[in-house]
Amino acid sequence: MQTKYIEFTSCDAPGFLDAARALKEGRLVAFPTETVYGLGANALDRKAVRSIYVAKGRPVDNPLIVHISDLEMLKPLVTEIKPDVLKLISAYWPGPLTIIMKKTSVVPDITTGGLDTVAVRMPDNPVALELIRKAGVPVAAPSANRSGRPSPTMAKHVLEDLNGKISYIIDGGQCKVGVESTVVDMTVEPAVILRPGGITPLMIKQVLGSVELDRSLIEKADIGKPKSPGMKYKHYAPKAEVFVVSGDYNDIVNWLSKAVSEDKKSGIKSVVLAAKEHIQEYGLNNAISFGSINDASEVASNIFRLFRECDRIGAEKIYVEAIPKEGIGLAVMNRIEKAAGGKIIQAGE
Ligand code: TXA
Ligand code: MG
Repeated sequence: MQTKYIEFTSCDAPGFLDAARALKEGRLVAFPTETVYGLGANALDRKAVRSIYVAKGRPVDNPLIVHISDLEMLKPLVTEIKPDVLKLISAYWPGPLTIIMKKTSVVPDITTGGLDTVAVRMPDNPVALELIRKAGVPVAAPSANRSGRPSPTMAKHVLEDLNGKISYIIDGGQCKVGVESTVVDMTVEPAVILRPGGITPLMIKQVLGSVELDRSLIEKADIGKPKSPGMKYKHYAPKAEVFVVSGDYNDIVNWLSKAVSEDKKSGIKSVVLAAKEHIQEYGLNNAISFGSINDASEVASNIFRLFRECDRIGAEKIYVEAIPKEGIGLAVMNRIEKAAGGKIIQAGE
C-alpha cells in the first residue's frame, strides 16, 4: 500500500477532503491531536477497526479510544451521560481527557476489546476536529506508532513506523502536550484515573470533589490484571535499554557520571536524558536536555521525540533523570518508567 503524506494547509484542500472520505469509507488515516498523533479508523466499522490492530501489531484485547467532534456524536455511543461526566466534559473538552462510560450496541466489540465500556474523548486540535467532522463518524484512534514504540509527536515519527501500512498521514506539526490523554473511569464511584496524562488528578478533583488513582499507578508490586488493558504491555520503549535514575540531585549526578564513564570504557554508547540545569555535569557528548527541571510540561512535549532521537544516534543505553511526580510530571514519569520496564535506580542508596 502506498501511504499518502499530506501537509495540512486548509480544511477545504482536496488532499484533506480525500483523507476524510477515506476515513469514513474504512481506510486508516493518521492525524495530529494535541497529545500525540492518532491512527484513525471509522469506529463503527468492524473491518476498519480490525485493520488498526494489524497495522500497529497491537494485541486485540487492548481497547481503543473513540474520538468525537461534538456532543451529538457521543449520545448514540453510551447508555447515559451522568451529571458528573457532564461536569468533566464542560470543564475539559475539547482536551486531553478520555472518559470511560457504559457503551451501547452501536459500538462494535472490536473497538472496545470486548469490554462493555467505551473510552471517548474530544481532542483539542483543529485539524483533528475538522477531520472527524468531515468524516461524519466517530473515529477510533490509538497512538499512531507500532505497538510498543514511543508514541509519535511529529508526523515523521508516524512515517517511520507505519509507512506503507496505512492510507494517509496528515502532517499538522508538532503535538503540544506530548504525552497521551488522561484516562478516567466514570463507571465506578469514586472515579478512578487509569492512565495519568495532560489533565492532572488535581484538575479532576477540582471538578468532581474526589478521584482515585488506579492501584497499578501507586503500587510497584504486580497487582495482576490492570483495569486499563493497555497498561499491562511494555510500552513507549526505544530500542536502547532504558534506566530511570532518581534521588537527590548530587547523588543522581555522581551516579550518572560514574555510569557514563564506565560505559565509555566498555565501549557502550550511552546517553543521559537530563534537565537542562544539569546537562553541563555530564558533558555535551553524553547528555541531551529534556527541558527544565521546573517545567514538567516542557519535558512532556520532548520525551517521546528524544527516545526516538536516541535510537537514531544508535544509543545502547539511555539513562533518564527522574523528575517530580507532580502535575503532568506524574504522566511523564509513568511513561518513562514503562519505557524502562521497571529498571529504576535509587542513586545514593
Ligand atoms: O492522547 C491519547 O489518548 C491518544 C490520542 C491519539 O488521542 N490515544 C491513545 O490511545 O493514547 P492508545 O490506544 O494508545 O491508548 C488507549 C488507552 C489504553 O491504555 C487502553 O487500554 C485504554 O486507553 N482504554 C481504552 N478503552 C478502554 C476501556 N473501555 N476501559 C479501560 N481502558 C480503556
Ligand atoms: Mg499508545
